[in-house]
Amino acid sequence: MLTKKIAVLFSGSGSNLEAILKKVHNQIFNGIKIEVCLCICNKPGAYGIERAKKFGLDTMIIESAKFANREEFDAAVVEQILKSGAELTVLAGFMRILTPVFTSKIKAINLHPSILPLFKGAHAIKESFESEMMLGGVSVHFVNEELDGGELIAQRAFEREDGMSLEDWESKIHAIEHEILPESIIKILTKEANV
Ligand code: GRF
Repeated sequence: MLTKKIAVLFSGSGSNLEAILKKVHNQIFNGIKIEVCLCICNKPGAYGIERAKKFGLDTMIIESAKFANREEFDAAVVEQILKSGAELTVLAGFMRILTPVFTSKIKAINLHPSILPLFKGAHAIKESFESEMMLGGVSVHFVNEELDGGELIAQRAFEREDGMSLEDWESKIHAIEHEILPESIIKILTKEANV
């Protein structure tokens, strides 16, 4: 059977990593097995490291704070991804701006908690909640050199309900993320196989 390998990069809680491990890892879609072959985290102590352990996976820690600049950090990450044989890299709450050292060599997708191109950047949940928008949402896109700017793969929106708090807004976003990211991975990897 054809196996396709993916790398997952994260920085924090890792709830999206867990969704990938539950819904995609070592499972077969259209005759293709998808395997998470590498987990990388740039923050020692991130809770996602524990979540990966529950699925029998060790996380490689590449501590961004220890590198002199973004390019050197990106080069270290790229080296491990290339070594792993992953054909797709998934940024699942990976809170780093990536340089061309990464974007020119690695095919990657990113999850972003807004309806792009609205609310790019690190504060999308709060900014979209505080906006006048009657819709919130989530996007998955290919990664290029522009922050939150690559070609869109999937988007899903939800309606603002009366009295919604920031916490309600955030939970709604996370629930959608846990669906849309695994679905996007499956879509990309099975489409490329022409099945
Ligand atoms: C998600 O909201 C993602 O969209 C954003 O960071 C958060 C990561 O959450 N980029 P988790 O670490 O997967 O729980």
